[in-house]
Amino acid sequence: QVPMKSDRYRPQFHFTPKAHWMNDPNGMVYYKGTYHLFFQYYPKATVWGPMHWGHATSKDMVHWKEQPIALYPDSLGYIFSGSAVVDVNNTSGFGKNGQVPLVAIFTHHNPKLEKQKPDQVESQSLAYSLDEGKTWTKYAGNPVLPNPGITDFRDPKVRWYEAQKKWIMTLATKDHITFYSSPNLKAWTKESEFGIDAGAHGGVWECPDLIPLNHNGKTVWVLIVNINPGGPNGGSAAQYFVGDFDGKNFKAYSKETKWMDYGTDNYAGVTFSNTGNRTILMGWMSNWQYATVVPTAAWRSANTIPRELGLKEVGKELFLTSKPIKELDELNEQRFSLKNQSVKNSYDLTAKSKNATGLFKLEVTTQNITDFSIVLANEQGNEVVIGYDKRANQYYIDRSHSGKVDVEKGFAKRHSAPRFSTDQVMSLTILADVASVELFADNGLTVMTDIFFPDKPLNQLFIKSTTGITLSNLTYTKLTPSVELN
Ligand code: FRU
Repeated sequence: QVPMKSDRYRPQFHFTPKAHWMNDPNGMVYYKGTYHLFFQYYPKATVWGPMHWGHATSKDMVHWKEQPIALYPDSLGYIFSGSAVVDVNNTSGFGKNGQVPLVAIFTHHNPKLEKQKPDQVESQSLAYSLDEGKTWTKYAGNPVLPNPGITDFRDPKVRWYEAQKKWIMTLATKDHITFYSSPNLKAWTKESEFGIDAGAHGGVWECPDLIPLNHNGKTVWVLIVNINPGGPNGGSAAQYFVGDFDGKNFKAYSKETKWMDYGTDNYAGVTFSNTGNRTILMGWMSNWQYATVVPTAAWRSANTIPRELGLKEVGKELFLTSKPIKELDELNEQRFSLKNQSVKNSYDLTAKSKNATGLFKLEVTTQNITDFSIVLANEQGNEVVIGYDKRANQYYIDRSHSGKVDVEKGFAKRHSAPRFSTDQVMSLTILADVASVELFADNGLTVMTDIFFPDKPLNQLFIKSTTGITLSNLTYTKLTPSVELN
């Protein structure tokens, strides 16, 4: 089965399963030249159901090939979210005769216990692969981390902590994070907790990740915590904390939440294992508010493009930055640039861009920081507006009139995000696919991801500014699809 061209909301450079339901990305790992993406998958319907791990592979994180399902539900329950590691030293003992096992650490969710024993439903289990991720065997000793009596106890993200030669598991435990450690991935010891008195608590904490990033030669740790609901523009979103980690405790520099993405459609994102000094995150490009009712046909949900994470200091505070991975440049086709272009009211780029597919990258730079917007539209009057509001010092994406907006009552909205940068130069990179837009402002300091469902392709493109603006540079790059369509 290959995606159909007639399937008009099928993204053309974002991963989607060919058919049926997908949510969180899981077990993302790089091994021997291949990137593996697993995902929460229900192969019998286009809505959530008993969870499997679907599987896809890629050489570049841009072109993905769907593979057979990796993990099926079993007597311990559904296979919920989790991670995968390369057990280089075979600490788990799953490798035989010098083999290096790939080990998946996931949550077993037992629906049979939901009514009687809600605080026993979720536990952590292992599966391993000895053929480079093709096939997986569940560990006979599952679960390796039984539930201590917490209703939401899930989404283990495991990494090797070299300084103390042990594995660290970051686990979402209802309204906080619990850190565990292990010498062998099988026996886990509780190290500490974080978050009861920090961060946003408008919803349950899910899908965490703890990552080291380099800041001026020093290792700084970022704790990503997905939360649903309670996001800055409603529903599901990802908050993060910057701090130190010593193998036992995570100490945040501030208890206040920062948001990784202010759009409504980047959830459950975590990073790949084993990518050396690159830190690459991919999220689920939807929101639990409406994920099961969006108007796609044979399939539901896509992922965001992979993003490389970094840190940036603004006024003594450290912020996470997200930028499109450089591999996406493979999709670049014809481009054109405008220099020192003045725009008063509206400038129509439709003819120049031959914007028939709605598939492009647009980069805009200005020193003339004032109100302006980039409008993706069509003759039916659908529009998605990406802009900057000077008075509020905010970026925004407005999908109020983007087409099919009645899927859910909160869908037709303008979403906004603070501009954190204090630079005199403003830069925006926009990646537009047929049903999504990803905004990376100020080199990834402010990020927004939104999906939409136009009645016809958004084949018109305008720059608008009521005050008038001069753009020092505008580069439009047509993109070629990375998804094969029939
Ligand atoms: C997040 C989530 C996870 C859970 C999975 C179930 O979207 O709720 O916490 O493991 O989805 O599909």
